Amino acid sequence: MKKICVLKGDGIGPEIINQAIKVLKAVGDFEFTEELIGGCAIEEYGIPLPEKTLQTAKSSDAVLLGAVGDWKYDKLDPAIRPEKALLGIRKELGLFANLRPVKVMDELATSSPLKADIAKGTDIMIVRELTGGIYFGEPRGNELRNNEETAYNTMVYSKSEIERIARVAFASAMKRNKKVCSVDKANVLDVSRLWRKVVTEVSAEYPEVELTHMYVDNAAMQLVVNPKQFDVIVTGNLFGDILSDEGSVISGSLGLLPSASLSDKNPAMFEPCHGSAPDMKGMDKANPIATILSASMLLRYGLNMIEEANKVDLAVKQVIKEGYRTEDIYKSSCSTDILVGTEKMGDLIAERIK
Ligand code: IPM
Ligand code: MN
Repeated sequence: MKKICVLKGDGIGPEIINQAIKVLKAVGDFEFTEELIGGCAIEEYGIPLPEKTLQTAKSSDAVLLGAVGDWKYDKLDPAIRPEKALLGIRKELGLFANLRPVKVMDELATSSPLKADIAKGTDIMIVRELTGGIYFGEPRGNELRNNEETAYNTMVYSKSEIERIARVAFASAMKRNKKVCSVDKANVLDVSRLWRKVVTEVSAEYPEVELTHMYVDNAAMQLVVNPKQFDVIVTGNLFGDILSDEGSVISGSLGLLPSASLSDKNPAMFEPCHGSAPDMKGMDKANPIATILSASMLLRYGLNMIEEANKVDLAVKQVIKEGYRTEDIYKSSCSTDILVGTEKMGDLIAERIK
């Protein structure tokens, strides 16, 4: 039986993960092992990423993660804050490739902050580099310079780091519309000039894929002006973080965007792109769809259970088609919208699978 390491985390993490587990149980038999990460691990062990959590993750077939963080830890030393656990587990598992699919369902195009005709039909795979760049670059720190407190980080990429993420992007494009747009800031940054050169070199291995380059400021604008121009976007850690949040709302809500984080040696990890929303915790309001779609990506990319993944995707589409909406995508002005809570949304999707 396939082993899934479950890391519910903080805030709305447990309630959204419970819905994903419900859905996974509806498509197959799995062995779930729960471990702590983030604030709940700080409470129990004093650190956000206990060794036991890491070991269970490593010895599983896939990892399913909810969300970490709570405002009550904002004052903690950055070294033991919940977010550190997320960065830590990504690094420890070598999850360098983060896939964030921004797909606008027809029925939700009117929930997009963009005009419906601009949003409708958008289908983008954002491929974000996840274990390098300015998030992890050295040197970093805080020191006195000319008697003034000064802080700095380093945006750094090696050729091999760029090559491997570029290959993930091109391979993904080969299964889609064969277009890759590489996003950088090569007009200013040395690291981006290397990025652009290496991505161009790798593109020679994929002659069928059309490669374009775009500066990140322009990409942020193009995403809202004409999102349909994009197929696969490949970019570094920081730019990918920003563009994927922007991309997520195009689809109607941050609560709809799943992600897969892949490694070349360890089990992959799957998590919604949104945070732990401590203000919504336990209120049965959070949208579980991003997490349920992350479970679908777990089936597809983590366990190679394509048929089961398709079933989950179809069930989500079906429930949306039937009009069921959590608060974030509900419109009282729409007579076919039916407002439901987190649990109910999970139940409906699981039922449609059966
Ligand atoms: C994300 C999050 C994380 C990131 C934070 C919580 C560290 O925003 O997964 O996009 O910046 O990568
Ligand atoms: Mn983010």
